[in-house]
Amino acid sequence: MTLLERPVLVAGPRVQVRPFTRADVDAWQAWPDYDDALLAGTSPRRMPPEQRTQWLRELTQRQGQIPFAIDDESGRFIGRLFLRAVRADEGAAVLGIDLDPDVLGRGYGTEALGAFLRHYFGPMGFDRMQLSVAAFNERARRSYASLGFRLVGSHWDTHPGPDVISEPRFRHVAQYFRRGSLGLEALFYDMVLERDAWRALL
Ligand SMILES: CC(C)(COP(=O)(O)OP(=O)(O)OC[C@H]1O[C@@H](n2cnc3c(N)ncnc32)[C@H](O)[C@@H]1OP(=O)(O)O)[C@@H](O)C(=O)NCCC(=O)NCCS
Repeated sequence: MTLLERPVLVAGPRVQVRPFTRADVDAWQAWPDYDDALLAGTSPRRMPPEQRTQWLRELTQRQGQIPFAIDDESGRFIGRLFLRAVRADEGAAVLGIDLDPDVLGRGYGTEALGAFLRHYFGPMGFDRMQLSVAAFNERARRSYASLGFRLVGSHWDTHPGPDVISEPRFRHVAQYFRRGSLGLEALFYDMVLERDAWRALL
């Protein structure tokens, strides 16, 4: 499929959001890992090419997730945006988003999510978007807060990666971790954005 044939769902000044395709799995797999050791569990789980079609099928057909791709102003695939735990009857879904490690902190993610919300609360007809964000992940938290997401709760969940509690280089975020029944656990904030609150910010 050429760039011109890609069906754009919604666009921001620099980004376009469109359905995620099998070709995007390969492009995503070509991303480098995140430099930040705290994001070790967020880097792409590496898959040999022969598993990728099945991975996408499992995600969409068995898990019922709805994946989208984010392209930058040159048409380059730079991010993934996922709706998980889609509950159409309740008008709700859980957001997942990650960008190519090479473009973090340049506003692309906030812009893409901001644009996507128009599609989500508009043509898709959802009422509420939920997400969980690691308390240590300040960039993601600020991005969501700037779009109007509000804190509604918190929980602890398993955290893959280095021993954040005992290594001095992680002292600045140590309060967001504990040793629990799952091993090393990170604090997550539960956030939500309702359509009315979103509309009020426009
Ligand atoms: C989370 C993510 C989608 C945000 O998109 P982004 O385009 O990188 O974010 P932005 O550049 O718009 O930055 C968002 C905010 O964080 C701030 N920020 C940027 N880099 C930062 C950093 N290294 N540390 C703390 N804050 C940072 C920005 O200034 C901005 O704050 P502001 O609105 O108060 O100015 C993207 O960073 C990402 O994919 N991260 C890796 C995967 C991930 O964490 N996914 C989310 C899991 S819940």
